[in-house]
Amino acid sequence: MAKIPEHILNEIQDRSDIVEVISGYIPLRPAGRNFKTLCPFHHEKTPSFIVSPDKQIYHCFGCHSGGNVFNFVKEYEKIDFIDAVRMLAGKTGVKLPAYKKESREEDSFVGTVYSINDIAANFYSSLLERAPASSGVRRYVEKRGIEESVLKKFRVGCADASWSSLADYLLKRGVKIDMSLKAGLIQKGKQGSFYDLFRGRLIFPICDVRGRILGFGARVMDDSLPKYINSPETVIYKKSQHLYGLNFAKPHIREKGFAIITEGYLDVITSHQYGISNTISSLGTALTLEQIRLLRRYTHNVVMVYDADQAGEMATLRGLDLFLEEGMNVKVATLDKGHDPDSFIRKFGPRGFTTAIKKANSLFDYKLGLLNEKFTKDEPEQKAEIVKEMLLTIRKVRNSVIKAEYIKRLSQGLSIKEDAVWDELKKTKKKVRGYELRTTDDEPRTTISISPAEKILLKLMLEDVNVVNTVKNSLQPFDFKNPQIRHLVEALFGLDSEDSFIDATKLINYLEDRVAPNVISFIVNEEMDIKDKERNVSDCIRTIKKEQRCEELKDIQNRLILAQKNGFEDEAKNLLEQFSKLIKKGA
Ligand code: UTP
Ligand code: MN
Repeated sequence: MAKIPEHILNEIQDRSDIVEVISGYIPLRPAGRNFKTLCPFHHEKTPSFIVSPDKQIYHCFGCHSGGNVFNFVKEYEKIDFIDAVRMLAGKTGVKLPAYKKESREEDSFVGTVYSINDIAANFYSSLLERAPASSGVRRYVEKRGIEESVLKKFRVGCADASWSSLADYLLKRGVKIDMSLKAGLIQKGKQGSFYDLFRGRLIFPICDVRGRILGFGARVMDDSLPKYINSPETVIYKKSQHLYGLNFAKPHIREKGFAIITEGYLDVITSHQYGISNTISSLGTALTLEQIRLLRRYTHNVVMVYDADQAGEMATLRGLDLFLEEGMNVKVATLDKGHDPDSFIRKFGPRGFTTAIKKANSLFDYKLGLLNEKFTKDEPEQKAEIVKEMLLTIRKVRNSVIKAEYIKRLSQGLSIKEDAVWDELKKTKKKVRGYELRTTDDEPRTTISISPAEKILLKLMLEDVNVVNTVKNSLQPFDFKNPQIRHLVEALFGLDSEDSFIDATKLINYLEDRVAPNVISFIVNEEMDIKDKERNVSDCIRTIKKEQRCEELKDIQNRLILAQKNGFEDEAKNLLEQFSKLIKKGA
């Protein structure tokens, strides 16, 4: 990231209001002088996300994400800091200085991969455009019934059968071969040769939410295998983190209040062609946490419509529990056997599809239906199996009323006592099962290690320049244990004596990469009931000195033990002296 001059960051900040910006993304409720809401960065039931209009800082006391308005936009939009600054600069009308992306190696590298993808997409789509009506690819597109305008919108293209069309083209365009390799479009062959990854296939660019091309999927035009090849993972393309079609679907998802999740490229393309534009696709994989969180920015409601085959059923079931864990409302629509959304829409029209969506079952009914097909309900063991499976899902339902209702329905359906099901539910709680990433309320993502005395002192310093001067006379930056806090203290100690007011949000900009923004927001947004400030300051100073001395004593003790063990008598004697001196000093 190129460095944006601090005064420009400050100017943008002065013109934006953090409450206004954040409430553009998530609803905020007033709570005293602050605003409170459920944290958008981790899953929780009670709000611990605080936005302070006075300090222009947010902090979540659950997962400890926090910072100023730039940090929020960066985290929420999942974009680079520089892009967050750009966005806010645009909104506030602040002009950014001419900024060259090439100024940092990594930036320019990532930028190049995006632009290679873009060049390749244009290359592929012009091949399709120019293909004569009688060509194989044109006949295939015709057969699949994809309209010209939709092909253009999704930038669908094709790769010819040659082994090096794209490689040659990129070379001609001046793209270095190692960059084409890193973009994943060209592969290394034997004896230093290179060849195109995609040949003789229909090409689907995969975009991020902003429409930038991350990678490609490529389908054969007959029944050969593999049906699709996809770009390998690159610096910009991580398969499990994107949803195909979301760049087009996002406004429609917001408008309709829900998203339709399908499995394939053509499911999305056909849905959009017929005006069902809130459709996206997970591209064959079981949904990942990243994908769900990405989607959760636009809606909490989803209808899954997977292919009516065994693979589809399994993918659905795996995705479902994860949705519940993330607090999403999920329903499942089932299509006639053998269909996927694409073929279903072609056969029954958009109306038919919309009806199927409307008839979507709750996850509970869907799963129970599948289990009922699999197990007979006559045997107690089989009933127990059904209960066990269902409870894995039910225990993830966050709403207690719904949970109780499901348990009632499950026990009635199987003619067993409700109490027995509740008993089993209690048992499942202990076992950890499921997904790697934990997202429960009581497990914050990160912890900030700072002693209470340091925290109180920092808070008081940030609020009052006079406190800074008092502390400066008694402590040194290295008296603070946490290295980030040390930087913060250094910055505070270095303030102009003219400064009468400390602006924490600007301090975040100033300290940029030395102090994480959430460390500052953590201290600043903590509510403390401080009655006697002077007394508090001196208490904290004393405690920090004491803590510091304890650390030193411990350190000397450890070295002493080592010295004695190894027979270094002079050293041991020396350490012992230091030890007693320090003890006396504290007494
Ligand atoms: P499908 O086999 O259902 O393909 O795989 P599809 O999208 O419906 O394509 P058509 O209608 O047969 O032409 C669903 C998705 O799984 C991924 C692709 O993203 C595909 O769209 N997939 C499938 C692969 O990545 N590789 C494969 O070999 C098959
Ligand atoms: Mn399919």
